[in-house]
Formats: sequence, structure tokens, C-alpha cells
Amino acid sequence: MRAINIGLTEEQRQGVINLLNQDLADAYLLLVKTKKYHWDVVGPQFRSLHQLWEEHYQKLTLNIDALAERVRALGGFPVGTLEGFLKLATLKEHAGNVPTATGMVANLVDDHEQVIRNLRDHVDQSGEKFHDQGTADFLTGLLEQHEEIAWMLRSFIEGEALDPDGRKPAAEAKTPVGV
Ligand SMILES: [Fe+2]
Repeated sequence: MRAINIGLTEEQRQGVINLLNQDLADAYLLLVKTKKYHWDVVGPQFRSLHQLWEEHYQKLTLNIDALAERVRALGGFPVGTLEGFLKLATLKEHAGNVPTATGMVANLVDDHEQVIRNLRDHVDQSGEKFHDQGTADFLTGLLEQHEEIAWMLRSFIEGEALDPDGRKPAAEAKTPVGV
């Protein structure tokens, strides 16, 4: 096979390929979790969340393809089996549990925040440890997208006093004036 001569050593390329494959696996788990909540969500915010999650899983689908193709551009092979995704991912599934709408949003905020922390570390590693400015730039773009998504999701649940079921605590319920 023709050698890849792009100014990165074999070790440097393999280093970033490993990072990209982990990010790919997490993106795939997040895609599946986002779709499941898009399907399952009920409640007053159904339409907003159902539509928002469709937008998010469309973005994730594009990002997954970009991650996999960047692995190929660096001479590697992207993970591409469900078994492989589960093995490499840092995110955990919440199988057998259908949370309230608020619980779903909170779970996805946690997941996006974890992906953001991973990407921040991978940006540093790509640039400083593996000397791959292209991957550092690419992952920075993904990081910014996840930050925006996390902000949007957070905005659904911030400013509300909620118990774990997503209802207003009884103590906070206001008695209407004149009753
Ligand atoms: Fe749909």
C-alpha cells in the first residue's frame, strides 16, 4: 500500500484515529438515545422536543459520517459495528427506562456535556501530543456544536424548580388570590 506522506508519523496518525473512533462511538450512542427520546417523549413540550431532537439527530448523523471519513482520510478504518460502538463509547445507555420529558432532557444534557469534555481533551491531545492541527480544528468544530445543543437543552429545564418526576414541588404551588 502507498505510504501516507502528510507530515504525521504512523504513531501520530494512529493516536488521532483512536481518538476519532472513540468520538464516533459516542456520537453513535448519542444518536440512538436522541432518536429514542424523539419517539417516546410525551407532555406539554412534546412538539418542541420531538422537533428539536429530530434536528439534533440529523446533525449527529452528519457528524458521524464526517468522523468516520476523517478516520479514512488518516489511513485508518472507522469502527462500524454496534458491538464496537458499545465497547469504545464512554456514554452509557439507559435501557428499559422511559423518563419524563424533563428527565430525558437532563440525561441528554449530561451526555452532551460528557462529549464536550471528551472533545476538549481530544482537541488538546490532537494538537499537542499528536501534532495533527487538522483533527484539532475538526474536533473543535464538533465541540462548539455540542455546546450549542447542550445550551438549548439546558434552557428547557433551567429556572424551574422540579422534583425528579418533573413536576413542580407542592410547596411551590401558588394558591390563586381570592380563593
Ligand atoms: Fe421522526
